[in-house]
Amino acid sequence: MTEYEHHDYDVLIIGAGGAGLRAAIEAKQRGLSVGIVTKSLLGKAHTVMAEGGIAAAMGNIYAEDNWQVHFRDTMRGGKMLNNYRMAELHAKEAPDRVYELEQWGALFDRTKDGRILQRDFGGHRYARLAHVGDRTGLELIRTLQQKVVSMGTDVFMECKVLQLVHDSAGRIAGAVAYWRPTGEFVTFKAKAVILATGGVGKSWKFTSNSWESTGDGHAMALWAGAELIDMECIQFHPTGMVWPFSVRGLLVTEGVRGDGGVLRNSEGERFMFRYVADMFRAETAESEEEADKWYADHSAGRRPPDLLPRDEVARAINAEVKAGRGSPHGGVFLDIGSRRSAEYIRRRLPSMYHQFMELAGVDITREAMEIGPTCHYIMGGVKVDADTAATRVDGLYAAGEVAGGMHGANRLGGNSLSDLVVFGRRAGAAAADYIEGGHGPADFDAGEVAAAIERALAPFTRESGENPYDIQRDLQDMMQANVGIIRNGPELADALTQLDDTFSQRVANLKVTGGRAYNPGWNLATDLPSMITVSKCVTRGAIQREESRGGHTREDFPKASAEFGTFNLAHSVSGGTYDGEFTTVRSPLLTMPDELKALLEEAK
Ligand code: FUM
Repeated sequence: MTEYEHHDYDVLIIGAGGAGLRAAIEAKQRGLSVGIVTKSLLGKAHTVMAEGGIAAAMGNIYAEDNWQVHFRDTMRGGKMLNNYRMAELHAKEAPDRVYELEQWGALFDRTKDGRILQRDFGGHRYARLAHVGDRTGLELIRTLQQKVVSMGTDVFMECKVLQLVHDSAGRIAGAVAYWRPTGEFVTFKAKAVILATGGVGKSWKFTSNSWESTGDGHAMALWAGAELIDMECIQFHPTGMVWPFSVRGLLVTEGVRGDGGVLRNSEGERFMFRYVADMFRAETAESEEEADKWYADHSAGRRPPDLLPRDEVARAINAEVKAGRGSPHGGVFLDIGSRRSAEYIRRRLPSMYHQFMELAGVDITREAMEIGPTCHYIMGGVKVDADTAATRVDGLYAAGEVAGGMHGANRLGGNSLSDLVVFGRRAGAAAADYIEGGHGPADFDAGEVAAAIERALAPFTRESGENPYDIQRDLQDMMQANVGIIRNGPELADALTQLDDTFSQRVANLKVTGGRAYNPGWNLATDLPSMITVSKCVTRGAIQREESRGGHTREDFPKASAEFGTFNLAHSVSGGTYDGEFTTVRSPLLTMPDELKALLEEAK
């Protein structure tokens, strides 16, 4: 085998967002050697895009709040497709994880008597999001990163993992990667690997995700023999910027609505009152007066419809635009300037203030923002055991956005930051248990390494072929048009044909010019196989789920179906190989214990 730069660790963590960093801390605390690999830079992960807060039932604003209500809200928000055990662990453990962040130096906004302040967000019964202005994800990353670095963890930045590597018994044994700055290959042998690679949003045209979110972890897990579930459930965050076009999709935090902002159409109407689904009617204000009273005194009465879960709000905005009541650039208006003082807005939402001022020339203390849905998050992901974050492949764990199950068909805002730290910690602990139990790979499959490298280099060797940027643009256009916020059978079928035939062919024939050092075209060429693989799973799931539920809306099947509410769609590839055939099966939901069912009944 050709000699490459090589490293050995107990635990290899792929991804340096909140989940990866929290997993690293746990494994380091157990005395293990840990390497973190990120294709980006430390401190720059999609975690920072969870701006408005981290959800945890600490009861600092409403003493009535507790893990049971948080569990119930999460399950209802997820339209009951959630892995109930993950939702239970998450609701129970989130407060401890927030206090732990506080101990490690995270700054939070405070109540007058010095406790961590919590703000309102959609779908949460009580003000539950601990926050620091609208920069909470950034603060979480800053805190975890400082801790990880202070513990002496090795971090490989700008290092892109191509594929996981097995041992001869099929256990995970490490990974093969390349350095983006030099193009040189590097191998990592590890007793356990934790995937914490985040999401997939870069396959859509309008997204809050940055260039990193190409679904690498989802695809690598599938190719390594794990299953992906709920891939059709994609969250379109209701409020992304729509103008200027160059920044279309950039996130506008839900904190704007949590802090009093309301949605209006081109007629000035607060249209959300017309879009309250039966399931939320009893707890939603019926008039502007009632909603504004709630905003004024933050009583725990009926909440404004602007704070319904994200899937509901995004569909309503979409419908308003389609009905011709949109804003000039194809969104609707989000108004906080006429409702809160300029001082309040600048203090509570400093990033939003600057973002609109700098990018759009809009002063949000005086003018309404133009916003519309943006691809933000995938609820689907690697199927894991709730308690351990273990996949079905020995030695492979997944935590954070790359893992599926926790959020069901739709995630509540603020539940992602808490998910990262709850399950990042659990993944680190479970990997440590696995290693301490004497498990780990016997050897390292050099053949897999060689094949992955050969595939990565192939685009340099072709006489002719397509530019990867053309393929990426066409993929984004196609996924936005055919597998977007509202779907139907014929468009999904067309999408799958294009993915299976045209796009797979185009990616197999792409050509890259120049050298390997600092070559963004080549870097994209190595991302495209993941993007295509993930897009296929999303589309296959969307075709097979003949109902509407959460982040999956079929105009030809507009209602949720009792039958489809009993299983996840689980994708795998034959033999757990890079080019295996796709299979999709119905995987029954876990049976919820009666005491948890009772919590959901009480909420009806
Ligand atoms: O709107 C936001 O601040 C995003 C939060 C989240 O995705 O959890």
